[in-house]
Amino acid sequence: MTDKAELETIEAEFARAIADAMDEQTLDAVRVAALGKKGRISEMMKGLGKMSPDERRDMGPLLNGLKERIGEALTARKDALQEAALSVRLASEKIDVTLPLRETALEAGRIHPLSQVWDEVVAIFADMGFAVENGPDIETDHYNFTALNFPEGHPAREMHDTFYFDPKADGSRALLRTHTSPVQVRTMEQGKPPFRFICPGRTYRSDSDQTHTPQFHQIEGLVIDETTHMGHLKWTLEEFLAAFFEVDGVELRMRPSYFPFTEPSMEVDVRCARLGNEIRIGEGDDWLEILGCGMVHPNVLKAVGLDPDKYQGFAFGIGLDRIAMLKYGIPDLRAFFEADLRWLKHYGFAALDVPTLAGGLTS
Ligand code: PHE
Repeated sequence: MTDKAELETIEAEFARAIADAMDEQTLDAVRVAALGKKGRISEMMKGLGKMSPDERRDMGPLLNGLKERIGEALTARKDALQEAALSVRLASEKIDVTLPLRETALEAGRIHPLSQVWDEVVAIFADMGFAVENGPDIETDHYNFTALNFPEGHPAREMHDTFYFDPKADGSRALLRTHTSPVQVRTMEQGKPPFRFICPGRTYRSDSDQTHTPQFHQIEGLVIDETTHMGHLKWTLEEFLAAFFEVDGVELRMRPSYFPFTEPSMEVDVRCARLGNEIRIGEGDDWLEILGCGMVHPNVLKAVGLDPDKYQGFAFGIGLDRIAMLKYGIPDLRAFFEADLRWLKHYGFAALDVPTLAGGLTS
């Protein structure tokens, strides 16, 4: 027999369980326990039929009231839980429309300054009518040295700090090209004069410090025909350097030098101003060594089957890494090879900024 006091205890218990339910699943378990088919209140309702009319008259309204209040409490709690869940979701899915747009891969990606400079150089020389040629990184002694007039055992070979591969069965040793000059020989062998081309490429020497890395980059230039002379060489270099450094003009100074494959050979300095760490090309009272060049040696022409009495011309070799560092104020060459994303973000270029002379090398 249930009495009024017991009903109050039951009501208090369910009311607490409802208030304590922190999610809809728990709340539903409370609903089943109270009002489900075999729920506590449902069972008591079933008991009404077995009561005497007097008891039923008392208990009926009490039970109905209990059932109703618990039902209402369940509904209210369910609404509250749903509302709370919604506001949690809204808070987590909130969009701050004032935030900047996330960069796309195309916008976030950067062109390495070296690739940029490579493209700039090609654009400038292409505009002057130079073709672009290529050769292999792994060279033979013949193309890297002998055909370029480095006699066997000549000390100039030692100056190159060459990386050699293990000797083959015939005793010959492949090597990593120490300069792009072998491409002069390969290209002349394959074609007929006049020649006018550049070759940007990877080069290798066993050397490493702030301004030298074991792998670096050069641009070779070669012009061969019947009348090309040193004045053309000087003009070509002046035009190139002014365009590359994006200044109105540059002043060059040529110093005698030595390369086995050119005669005469020269080192070229460009007038510059040094302002602390900054170097400005084309002004000031200082000189900066920038490249090596010369008139192609008759022995090189002979080695590719050209008659040196008929053909002549010039060659030059520019350190690509060095002019990239100068143009973009990059102090340490080794950073070029470290693949540090922060460095690349700072010094790199947007993917669609393709250098052209008409559109500007650097925008
Ligand atoms: N090959 C030379 C070097 O690497 C540079 C050079 C190229 C000099 C062409 C003269 C002419 O040092």
